[in-house]
Amino acid sequence: MSAKKAAKKRRRRGKLVARADELPPGRTKKFLLKCNGNTVEALLVNYEGRLRAYVNRCRHIALSLDWVDNEFFTEDGRYLICANHGATYEPTTGECVWGPCFGAFLQSVPLEIAGGEVRAFCPPEAEDGG
Ligand code: FES
Repeated sequence: MSAKKAAKKRRRRGKLVARADELPPGRTKKFLLKCNGNTVEALLVNYEGRLRAYVNRCRHIALSLDWVDNEFFTEDGRYLICANHGATYEPTTGECVWGPCFGAFLQSVPLEIAGGEVRAFCPPEAEDGG
């Protein structure tokens, strides 16, 4: 199989990033996606038992949110926070609810959860090269 076909197949199936029961509530897990030739770092979030994923890039300045590796939640576990200047994000939607990018949204990473596996797909914006 050519590299191009293999990449296309991977895109269709998504990337296996976790087992569905792997991440307890209040925890996160970082993973990498190859999107349109670029490596995109993302975070899988379990907030109150539901999984979501976002690109690990603040909407204030395009920096990773975590200074301490894989530390994304506020101390009380209610929000995701950017360690750089404190932008605070709603974990259920990725909306910045406090801080310098108020009203902006983290880039969402589509997930598919089936057969005990969590698979992630490139965000459409990343596939377009954005
Ligand atoms: S870079 Fe995230 S708040 Fe400034």
